[in-house]
Amino acid sequence: MQPCHDLIERLEKAGQSHLLNFFEQLPEEEQSRYIAELEALDLDLLQELIAACVLKKPVIGLPEDLQPAPYFPLIPRNEAEADRYQQADAVGEELLRGGKVAALTVAGGQGSRLGFDGPKGTYPIAPVSGKSLFQYFAESLLSASRKYSVKLHWYIMTSVVNDAATRAFFAENDFFGMDSEQVHFFTQGFMPAIGYDGKLLMASRGSLALSPDGHGGTLLALRKSGMLDDMKKHGIEFLSYFQVDNPLVPVVDKRFIGLHKLENSEMSAITLAKTNAHEKVGNFCIGNGKLLVIEYSDLPDELANATDENGNLKFIAGSPAIHVISRSFIERLTVGGRLDLDWHRADKKIKCIDSDGNALDVTEPNGVKLESFIFDALKLADKTMIFEADRKEEFAPTKNATGVDSVESCRLMLSERDARRLERCGVEIPRNADGSLNAKIEISPLSIWDDEDCAAYVAKHNIKAVEAGSVNYFV
Ligand code: UTP
Repeated sequence: MQPCHDLIERLEKAGQSHLLNFFEQLPEEEQSRYIAELEALDLDLLQELIAACVLKKPVIGLPEDLQPAPYFPLIPRNEAEADRYQQADAVGEELLRGGKVAALTVAGGQGSRLGFDGPKGTYPIAPVSGKSLFQYFAESLLSASRKYSVKLHWYIMTSVVNDAATRAFFAENDFFGMDSEQVHFFTQGFMPAIGYDGKLLMASRGSLALSPDGHGGTLLALRKSGMLDDMKKHGIEFLSYFQVDNPLVPVVDKRFIGLHKLENSEMSAITLAKTNAHEKVGNFCIGNGKLLVIEYSDLPDELANATDENGNLKFIAGSPAIHVISRSFIERLTVGGRLDLDWHRADKKIKCIDSDGNALDVTEPNGVKLESFIFDALKLADKTMIFEADRKEEFAPTKNATGVDSVESCRLMLSERDARRLERCGVEIPRNADGSLNAKIEISPLSIWDDEDCAAYVAKHNIKAVEAGSVNYFV
């Protein structure tokens, strides 16, 4: 078998002929699979990106008029705002009851920092039961479905790295009690990794070193996979977007959804007050009249440290990557099957072969991965809205095994959130002198999803107190 002349010519023109160096040594089935992989490359786009982002480091030019972005605060500032929030609750609830809202989870990442073998969503995160992230979300969605008398749909984005394993996990676990028709998997696009000399890296003699194209790939993947049509068929207008590594997220939030609708927003975002000037989250800013998320690494020190007249950080609004996105906005952005989000460069250690076809021992970053980010779509929206949330109630990312944003901190935050919920319902919770919990606590999201459910549960089971030092699973 031979690659067609056109492909050989295009690779040559793009300076990528080395990709065929071992072609003749490959078994025939591998040859045809590899040709399909090469044919799928957008070589023109890659050439542009290599010149702009690989052969030189792109310089991030910040708008000169960069200002903190305004947002709706968690606690309303006046009566009019309080009324607005009440109205939003009613509108959000109506949209949920009417089946106009679906959940969207991005789960295509490689989860390299966690160092877990398998899709991150299968990680056993719950502090007592050991339920996986996917099960935690599924049970939350089942409870929300019960609350709003509707079968909420759940769209899950996977990638080449974890699609088969993710689908298998759901099938093995009977979709955690959800109807399999409620759960929709779709796979994001990928990008080839590129060496510092501008040549695409090869994972083996007959395959490219590919990686998922970033969570920004969600929008185009929704279009290409037919999921936008599927949503339309089901009457879904709004997507509650969250990341697979944050089990604390309230999978659907009626107030946030209602505000999105009332403000005619196309894409909305939750914000949290940053814990310090350099916290590793994006910063919501306004520049050139558009809403931008500036990564922590790109915000100059003088802006990151700037304070207002009360001594509070000026750029306080951090992004936990929780959004409501209108389906119509995604349709508009991806019309014609194309979407131009910015590409971001990440220098990584990439497993690949050398010019003799042998596996390289990679100890230092040896190339570039290119990713697009979902928050870059905010600046393409005609109207946006930001709403503040309480970090303790919504954001516990599982990025690392230990330390900051880790399995450990996430489990603790889940326990703390459940303990506060019980306390609000009058249950006595044992605490140490420093206020930390003196018991392990987990509430199953299947039984209790919000304070209302908790109050009913506490009354029904006549729960008065949790014993010091005990391990508790409320199910
Ligand atoms: P992260 O930026 O934390 O990346 O993704 P990651 O791949 O999960 O982890 P590291 O950086 O390798 O340790 C944030 C969220 O975006 C999703 C992830 O699955 C996670 O929910 N994501 C990220 C995608 O769905 N696709 C991607 O290409 C990248």
